Amino acid sequence: MSRPGSIDRSRPGSAVSLDSSNASPHPAHAAGDRLPDVATAAADCRLCKLAAGRTQVVFGVGRPDADLLFVGEGPGEQEDLKGEPFVGRAGQLLTQLIEGIGLTRDDVYIANVVKCRPPGNRDPQPDEIEACAPWLDRQLELIRPRVIVTLGNFATKLLLDTKEGITKLRGKEFEFVRAGIHATLLPTVHPSAVLRSGGKSLAESRADFVRVKRVLARVGDDARG
Ligand code: URA
Repeated sequence: MSRPGSIDRSRPGSAVSLDSSNASPHPAHAAGDRLPDVATAAADCRLCKLAAGRTQVVFGVGRPDADLLFVGEGPGEQEDLKGEPFVGRAGQLLTQLIEGIGLTRDDVYIANVVKCRPPGNRDPQPDEIEACAPWLDRQLELIRPRVIVTLGNFATKLLLDTKEGITKLRGKEFEFVRAGIHATLLPTVHPSAVLRSGGKSLAESRADFVRVKRVLARVGDDARG
């Protein structure tokens, strides 16, 4: 496990499936190499039971070549209606945190582990996460972010392939290496959980975002040589 302040090089993030041994390929892998085409294919997805209750698929929003990519859990009611991730109360907090480090939503990309709203905002179930994971795979492969921020337990456990909870992992940096993507992954508490717990949790989130800003500057310097 990494100490706070260090990159844990022993835990390459590789939870999401790049390939499937199923006979028919997942539609995410058949949709081509352009993000809008993958989004169009996802809009018709009926691979899990969440399709029955959704208004629309909430694929993701933001820069198709963003250096910074956020992964949340799944759409809530507002997101399901609008077709955009993080537009409800938790989304307002996420937007504030992004703006707090001098960026806007247009500078980043925002996605979720599951692209359809779980009924009554329940947790996404393992079969739903598994069915949806290749869409997130393709988003990561095509956007190729340098920094990934996982918001809460579901995204963190999926991308770090860990059972460890967010409380232990937040505030640390992990190397995420997979299929040509080499990014730094920083887990932080989900904005909905921050809204529920207030004070200390909000301060921790702000601190995590300051760290995100530092890591972005560092990877930018590395890229410039
Ligand atoms: N919570 C999430 O995890 N994602 C959203 O898009 C909205 C709320």
